[in-house]
Amino acid sequence: MPELAYVNGSIMPIEDAVVPIEDRGYQFGDAVYEVIASYKGKLFCFNEHFARLDRSMKELHFQEVQVDEIRKAAVDLFSMAKIERAAVYIQVSRGVSPRNHSFPSNVPVQVVLTVRKIVEKKPSVRETGIFAITVEDFRWGRCDIKTVQLLPNVLAKQSALDAGCYDAIFVTKEGIVREGTSSNLFILKGGVLKTHPITPNILSGITRLLVLDICREKQYPAEECFFDKSELYEADEVFLTGTITEVLPVVKIDGRTVGNGKVGPVARVLQEGLLGKLKSK
Ligand code: PDD
Repeated sequence: MPELAYVNGSIMPIEDAVVPIEDRGYQFGDAVYEVIASYKGKLFCFNEHFARLDRSMKELHFQEVQVDEIRKAAVDLFSMAKIERAAVYIQVSRGVSPRNHSFPSNVPVQVVLTVRKIVEKKPSVRETGIFAITVEDFRWGRCDIKTVQLLPNVLAKQSALDAGCYDAIFVTKEGIVREGTSSNLFILKGGVLKTHPITPNILSGITRLLVLDICREKQYPAEECFFDKSELYEADEVFLTGTITEVLPVVKIDGRTVGNGKVGPVARVLQEGLLGKLKSK
């Protein structure tokens, strides 16, 4: 089946899909999004992603949206595409209206969906671990809202690639470690896991919560707390978490080896645990 797109009710192959140039997502980044992964033909954490989409729209004062219609459109498009291992992308903009900073009145939101194959790299970076750099977190103060304004993330990711690494980790001027460019981050030191608490400065990742659940199930001590760059450098294990990322070990940061430079045992257990949840949900 072709990879499909949906634009406000019309379905077509992705390469044929277009949005009007006066879409506020295109002109102002005035849009929110979600990425849902499927595993063996089932959409994973569908309700959690839609709850976050709804929250993002409310935080940005989008007009009342029929979320149920978007949910139905996503399910229908996914079942039409018949792709077992797919990424369903959902983007909702404040609508199409002549360019003007103020909110347009009585303009419906514009909904765009795509369904495409997730292509796994071989050997999987999850087995080898990745190299990362740290970059200053120069994003805005509402990273909890999943908006399409991702330019700092794009620039940080490219800096990592230019440095021969896979990803970048946002760290504040003061040294607080936030998250990856499209993932949350955990460290392990002395048997205790740490991840940034939920504040407006990071995205409340769905995978992050699942990993915290697995930690509870395995009785691994895990704290949601601030930690700084020196703790990041001195950690025994570091890994990123996200919908497509899953649990991705980081084995080198800014040229310094993490732990013994190999994927650690705790990351492996959490990878397996997440896979178990993917298979069962
Ligand atoms: N990114 N932090 C940021 C900045 C993210 O963009 C993401 C997800 C996450 C992890 O959230 P979750 O576990 O709910 O996927 C954390 C998506 C996948 C993306 O931009 O493609």
